[in-house]
Amino acid sequence: MTRHATIIGTGSYLPERVVTNKQLEGIVDTSDEWIVSRTGISSRHIVAEGETTSDLAARAARAAMDRAGLAAADIDMLFLGTTSPDYIMPSTACMTQAKLGLKCPAVDFMAACTSWMYALQSAAALVESGRANNVLVIGAEALTRLVDFSDRSTCVLFGDGAGAVVVGVSVEPGIEAVVLGADGTGAEQLIIPDGGAAKPFSAETAENHDQFVKMNGSEVFKFAVRVIPRATKEALAKSGHSLEDLRWLIPHQANQRIIATIEERLGIDDDHVYLNLAHTGNTSAASIPLALDDLYTSGRLAPGDLLALVGFGAGLTWGAAVVRWTLATPNEEA
Ligand code: ACO
Repeated sequence: MTRHATIIGTGSYLPERVVTNKQLEGIVDTSDEWIVSRTGISSRHIVAEGETTSDLAARAARAAMDRAGLAAADIDMLFLGTTSPDYIMPSTACMTQAKLGLKCPAVDFMAACTSWMYALQSAAALVESGRANNVLVIGAEALTRLVDFSDRSTCVLFGDGAGAVVVGVSVEPGIEAVVLGADGTGAEQLIIPDGGAAKPFSAETAENHDQFVKMNGSEVFKFAVRVIPRATKEALAKSGHSLEDLRWLIPHQANQRIIATIEERLGIDDDHVYLNLAHTGNTSAASIPLALDDLYTSGRLAPGDLLALVGFGAGLTWGAAVVRWTLATPNEEA
């Protein structure tokens, strides 16, 4: 019998503190009207003082393990996607593993906003091959710590949070296809210039605010609307499905205008596209698993639904996954 990989549990966590567009008007020269019309974002959650990416990750992962009915000893591997690691060394995956009381191997994936998609592909491969039975795949960000709150072109976009799934074994296909891509020639378009080994933190860093996210917004926009429709179609073709078979497209929640353009290029209706960015902002690697958990816990995912999860980010990187949903809707669970 073929061994398939499927999602057997989801979880998410948003920090308590909410910052509205109105509040940002008091920090930078912006307006609620500008932010909503250009991005679709109304508010975002922001980590509390002392709260870290691994704190958020552990909460989301705990919820996903509970949902899957698994104990610490059942988890064979922990993958964590992030752009805002607690430290450069050690990995945030290790910090999270300790907080969860796990004993399994743990490692970070760093493909910016696409990190979680890269981790999902690796988790599915481990499970399908029989090298692991249950893999935690977390996306977690405290990205507002790496955003310049004097730069209105970036600080209005991002929020903090975490989402997680457990990938486990199934007799039916679940994670049917994942298509990933990278184009390192676009590295400069979205970058945190300083603080790594290329340009360690210095007095100049602080002066230029180069420890923060720098983005060429219009280039990232054009890149996203070019690669995502193509990757989505590739993943559908790879899994033997067509656009008409899709119940939900769950896009990286970066910007409503990007998502609307992707919808238009694919010819998908609004009712098939899940959006939660109005109250989360762009949570980078956390955004897709967070949206997935939102959709699932709201009771709008049923076994048999076909989903396309699509993401893009710095690198430049992108990914699309076609997933057959196999979990019972929450109110139908035993
Ligand atoms: N409030 C008010 N005005 C602003 C703000 C703001 N927050 N930010 C920029 N502006 C101004 C600019 O200064 C500019 O003014 P000017 O014309 O006087 O020079 C004007 O608004 C237009 O600026 P643009 O950058 O052209 O605005 P645009 O319509 O392109 O929207 C945006 C900017 C929202 C960033 C858009 O380019 C975008 O969404 N890009 C993709 C960004 C994204 O999604 N990145 C994340 C993806 S990857 C990841 O998730 C890490």
